[in-house]
Amino acid sequence: MRRGDVEYLIILGLCLSGLYVATTGLVMDLFGLHRFLWHAYAGYVFVSLAALHLALHWDRVTAYLRRRLGRSRMRPRPDVRARELERLPSGRRQLILATLTGLGGFLLGRLTPRPPTWESADLGQRYHAWSKPGASSLLSAALDWGPRPEPYKRYPGVPRVALPDPRGFRGLSVEEAIEARRSRREYAPGALSLEQLSRLLHAANGITAPSRGFRSAPSAGALYPIETYVIVHQVAQLQPGIYHYLVPEHALEQIRVGDLRSAVTLAGIGQEMLGQAQVCLVLSAIFQRTRWKYRERAYRYILLEAGHIGQNVYLAATSMGLGACAVGAFLDDMLNELLSLDGEEEATLYIIAVGRV
Ligand SMILES: Cc1cc2nc3c(=O)[nH]c(=O)nc-3n(C[C@H](O)[C@H](O)[C@H](O)COP(=O)(O)O)c2cc1C
Repeated sequence: MRRGDVEYLIILGLCLSGLYVATTGLVMDLFGLHRFLWHAYAGYVFVSLAALHLALHWDRVTAYLRRRLGRSRMRPRPDVRARELERLPSGRRQLILATLTGLGGFLLGRLTPRPPTWESADLGQRYHAWSKPGASSLLSAALDWGPRPEPYKRYPGVPRVALPDPRGFRGLSVEEAIEARRSRREYAPGALSLEQLSRLLHAANGITAPSRGFRSAPSAGALYPIETYVIVHQVAQLQPGIYHYLVPEHALEQIRVGDLRSAVTLAGIGQEMLGQAQVCLVLSAIFQRTRWKYRERAYRYILLEAGHIGQNVYLAATSMGLGACAVGAFLDDMLNELLSLDGEEEATLYIIAVGRV
């Protein structure tokens, strides 16, 4: 390969990796990600290519510097391209070019039509207003909001794993756990015990009042729309894979076996902690469980309930000396597909990574 080809390839690489850095930067900003390794890696590639580019054109750069600094003792070597020096833009041309570019950018910014304001773009705000009690709720009362579904989801015919009794553990007090809780994104190697997972699931969505079926986290109308799935990477006595938490039996249903570290990281927009944590709890909602009764307010309640459960998991993890991190930034379709959910009747809402720290 000739040197000219290499230079063109480097420039192409610079353009592509620069574009990648910019795009992943936008994604980071859009989703408010704390860490995004794809962005960082693209940055390293960009910087390496830029360094290579600089090294290959070192003669030109030094010639330019010599000229600009005007040091006579730094005279260019006779073989250093005099022609290239001539091609360098003069100071005046540079000034005009910079002024025109700045002016162009300013005009472009001024003349580009403004995007719609958040008031018109934010569907959430519209939903919030629409779901207030008022005229719309009178109208919505006339609609058929469908039947009440089964309270518990089951996967018939799949292998089941009984979970140990979660009660009796004495970790940090509530006050201590609240003080100590932090989102932890780095985890130590090793496995979680089945007891630890059992306690996490009990805190998340377990039954605490068996006679009435009431659970650890509150639920509007005790309708419990949230399902809990566990993506297991490393738990003693469990094969890696996906499990569904069968609430009434306090057991796990094994719905898929396999190493899903890359798949869940990918679905989590490259957030590496999702593959490093020993487990990822995924909360989904079966919307109809709440919708048949609370109609247009159902969506509010469902999200609030996922939040209650998320906090229970955080505190239970902290109390056991584990680390947790909530994740709201993920690719919904990819995560739904991973769990074989249709994304409409039942959709994923929240991931909570839990691991050893
Ligand atoms: C709804 C929600 C979504 C979140 N999504 C992410 C996420 O996608 N990635 C992440 O690293 N942290 C995420 N977090 C964690 C927050 O960044 C974290 O709670 C915040 O920085 C405050 O830190 P603390 O939890 O240690 O108090 C999320 C937290 C909440 C409540």
